[in-house]
Amino acid sequence: MDNRSTARTFKPSILADGFLLAGSAAVALLIFWVLYPVLVPATDAPSSRSSSSSFSAYVVKPPPPPRVSCSSPATTPPSPNPAGGCTNLRHDPPSPTFYDDPALTYTVGGPVADWDEKRRAWFDQHPSFQPGAAERVLMLSGSQPKRCRHPAGDHFLLRAVKNKVDYCRLHGIDFFYNTALLHPRMFSFWAKIPVVRAAMVAHPETEWIWWVDSDAIVTDMEFSLPLHKYAAHNLVVHGWPHLVYEKKSWTSLNAGVFLIRNCQWSMDFLDVWARMGPHSPEYERWGQTLRSEFKDKGLPESDDQSGLVYLLRQKDRWADKIYLESDYYFQGYWVEIVGGLDNATRRYLEMERRAPELRRRRAEKVTEAYGAAREERLEAEGWRAGRDGKRRPFVTHFTGCQPCSGERNQAYAEEECWAGMERALNFADDQVLRSYGFVHPDLMSSADVRPLPYDFPAAKA
Ligand SMILES: *[C@@H]1O[C@H](CO)[C@@H](O)[C@H](O)[C@H]1NC(C)=O
Repeated sequence: MDNRSTARTFKPSILADGFLLAGSAAVALLIFWVLYPVLVPATDAPSSRSSSSSFSAYVVKPPPPPRVSCSSPATTPPSPNPAGGCTNLRHDPPSPTFYDDPALTYTVGGPVADWDEKRRAWFDQHPSFQPGAAERVLMLSGSQPKRCRHPAGDHFLLRAVKNKVDYCRLHGIDFFYNTALLHPRMFSFWAKIPVVRAAMVAHPETEWIWWVDSDAIVTDMEFSLPLHKYAAHNLVVHGWPHLVYEKKSWTSLNAGVFLIRNCQWSMDFLDVWARMGPHSPEYERWGQTLRSEFKDKGLPESDDQSGLVYLLRQKDRWADKIYLESDYYFQGYWVEIVGGLDNATRRYLEMERRAPELRRRRAEKVTEAYGAAREERLEAEGWRAGRDGKRRPFVTHFTGCQPCSGERNQAYAEEECWAGMERALNFADDQVLRSYGFVHPDLMSSADVRPLPYDFPAAKA
C-alpha cells in the first residue's frame, strides 16, 4: 500500500516532465519540417540526385524525409546499444570513398591498407552514424547454399535463424545471414572467414562483427554483450588461457562464436588466419604443423580452430589483442547446458515472484531496460554465470550435432541432439513470447503455447 501511494504521488510529475519533453521535441520537429525544404537544396536529397540544372535545385516539392529511426536525437537519451539509432539511411554524398577504389576488395588476401583511416573518413561523410559507433554490432551467421541432407535440418536452421533475429531485434543489433559460399575452396568451417572479411567492408559503420555459427542458439535473450570489457581487444573468443598455453589443446577455445573489431588489425589477422585454409598453397603444410602442435587433434587437415589456437600462441604477434572469455557462456557446450534449462526456468520464475519490477508487462522494445534491472538483481543475489552458476547460459552451441548434414559426432545419440536443440530453442522462445503474452507449458512442446495471466508469475496460472 505504501509503495502504491508513493508511486501515485510521483507519477504526475514524471508524466508532466515527459509531456514537456515530448512537447518541445514536437515543436522542434515542426520547425524542422517547415524549414527543411527551404534549407536543403534538393540536389542533396537522394531522390533528386540526377537533377542537373542548378535552378531545379530549389524545387517546391519537399524532399522525402530522411529515413531516421528515431525522431529527435536531442531529446532522446543515448541508448546503450544504439545500432539502430538516429542513422540517416538516405544519405551517401558523391565525394569518393574507399568503395570507389577499384583495388580495394572484399576477399581475404586482397590488400587493404589504412583501413582505420578509411573507416574514419567514411564516418566523416556519414556523420549520422557517428553516435554510438563504438558499440555498434553486426551479427553474422550462415549455412550452406544447398538444402540440408538431414530431413529436419532446414527446419532447425529456420528456427535457429529466428532465434538470432529475435535476439538482434531486442538489442538493436544488425543481422546478416549468408548462404553463399564466398570462396569456392573455403568450405565448411573455413567458410566464415571470407564472410567476415566481406562484412567488414560492407559495414564500415559497425565496430564489431559477431560471428555466430548456425548451430549456436542464444539462450539468454536479455543479456547484453559486455563490450566495455573488450575495449582494449580486437578479437573475443570463448576459451581458457591455461589450456591454450599449458595444455596446448585444440579445444582450448571455440572458434564457432567470436567478436572481431572492424579495424586494420582484424584485416591483417583474417589474412594470416585464412592462409591456413584450403584455398592456400600452405594448407597441407599447416595440417602437419597443427597436427604436431596439438596432440589431441584428430583431424589431419588444417582447421580454423586449431589455427586460431596456434596464432594465439604466437604471443608477440596477436595474443595481446585477443580476449579469451570464460566468465560467462560467450558460447557453451550444449551437453553441459541443456539438462539444466528446466531448472533455470524455475529459478528465474522464482526470482520474478520476489521482484515485481522484473515481472511487469512491457513493450518488447524496452526489453534491455529489464535486462539491466535483472542484471542488478542477479548481482545483488550473487548469481554467477557459467558452468557452476545459476544464470541462464548466454549462447548454447550444438557442437558435434551437425543438424544440417546429420553427420553428427558419434559420441552423441541422435535423440540427445534433437531434444537438446528443441529445449534450447523453446527456452529462448519463451523469453521472447513473454512480451507477446504467451509461454510454452513444456520446453519439449514447440507447438503448444498458453496465454500468460496478468502479473505472471506472481499470480497462479
Ligand atoms: C534441478 O533441480 C532439482 C531440485 O533442486 C535437483 O534435484 C536437480 O538435480 C536439478 N537438475 C539439474 C540438471 O541441475
